[in-house]
Amino acid sequence: MNRTKFLAAGLAAATLGTSALHAAELNIVHGAVGKDQEVLRVALDRFEEETGHTVNIVSMPERTTDQFAQFRLWLSAESQDIDVYRLDVIWAPQLADHFVDLTEATADIIDQFVPAAVESQTVDGKLVALPMFLGAPALYYRSDLLEKYGKDMPETWTELTETASEIMQAEREAGNEDMWGYVYQGAAYEGLTCNAMEWIASNGGGQIVNADGEITVMNEKAVEALDLAASWVGNIAPPGILNYAEEDARGVFQSGNAVFMRNWNYAYALVNGEDSPIKDVVEVTTLPAGDSGETASILGGSHLAVAKYSQNQDEAIQLVRFLNNEESQRARAIESSRPPTLTALYEDAEIAEKQPFIPLWKPVIDGAISRPSAPTKGDYNEVSSEIWTAAHSVMSGEMDAESAVARLNAMLTRLKGDAW
Ligand code: GLC
Repeated sequence: MNRTKFLAAGLAAATLGTSALHAAELNIVHGAVGKDQEVLRVALDRFEEETGHTVNIVSMPERTTDQFAQFRLWLSAESQDIDVYRLDVIWAPQLADHFVDLTEATADIIDQFVPAAVESQTVDGKLVALPMFLGAPALYYRSDLLEKYGKDMPETWTELTETASEIMQAEREAGNEDMWGYVYQGAAYEGLTCNAMEWIASNGGGQIVNADGEITVMNEKAVEALDLAASWVGNIAPPGILNYAEEDARGVFQSGNAVFMRNWNYAYALVNGEDSPIKDVVEVTTLPAGDSGETASILGGSHLAVAKYSQNQDEAIQLVRFLNNEESQRARAIESSRPPTLTALYEDAEIAEKQPFIPLWKPVIDGAISRPSAPTKGDYNEVSSEIWTAAHSVMSGEMDAESAVARLNAMLTRLKGDAW
């Protein structure tokens, strides 16, 4: 809290002879991409004005894997410095013990939230985090270029590979030497786990570890999917893709240098933003299908949890409720195209008008695949790390897909032991 506010709050409490007017200083930690931070600050300013509390944002690196490492350090040290954590959808089972059970504090509003989102944050009956926003990735594409070259929208990964390659080459011949066909998240981190699971699941290769904790990755469809992805690197995707996270992919696509991009929903507001060079020529659809004939999208999203070590738990709960109320979620959906967690907002006229993809995206979110964080319990981070390592080693040419899948199977089997 800054000094002036502290004095003012103290004075008010003294004058009224009550401690109920305690004004707290809270810290919220989140990993922002795109407009997240800007939109959060606006909501926090409203909260400060309404309540007299002060809220500081503690920013994290963009990659969720880096955030997790830092969060785990703070939490295991029982740090009192952070009151509210913005958690990735996958973390509740691993970090549950460190957070306040929000069941009672949200009993009056929880029915308004998308049930699957609530379920994803419930561990052994404890509500670890209140759902903030959801996500299911989209295939962003340059409709002007498809039209220019008379191409249909690719339905499968193989068609995407061909179309991306043809348009890229034609554009390069026409003088745009920086053009690429497809950008996505190829760095060795959680984002690659999501991409790899999508390639494999859509190809009929299953979910690597299924909902019952069985390891299912050892199959030909998984090998084929990784082989195809390896063929992209240096061909339709820049060699640097091996170190791309979300914002790297968006940077290339938004500056007009890629035909297709896989990204989360936050990118929609930005590629269509006033200052985006491609704002009138970009559209979104679901990711391509593989041999399964179906598309697969991974469920993403972030949710708000109150640390057990916070010295201001009541105020922190008040903040979590505020940031997830209708007004805050509507603003977030409109300003940063984050799909809401309140069911009613999928029928909200203002959101439908300003971010028309959001109501259309609800079925994609509902059908999204969960990463195996629930069945693998405390081991999810290691499981995911084995997945992204396997995918990365195939994409970088260090390993052939068959050996990488066999190694992944062995590593997961060892990790599993009797644990899950
Ligand atoms: C997005 C998703 C999150 C996922 C991450 C991977 O932030 O919301 O669930 O883990 O991307 O990079």
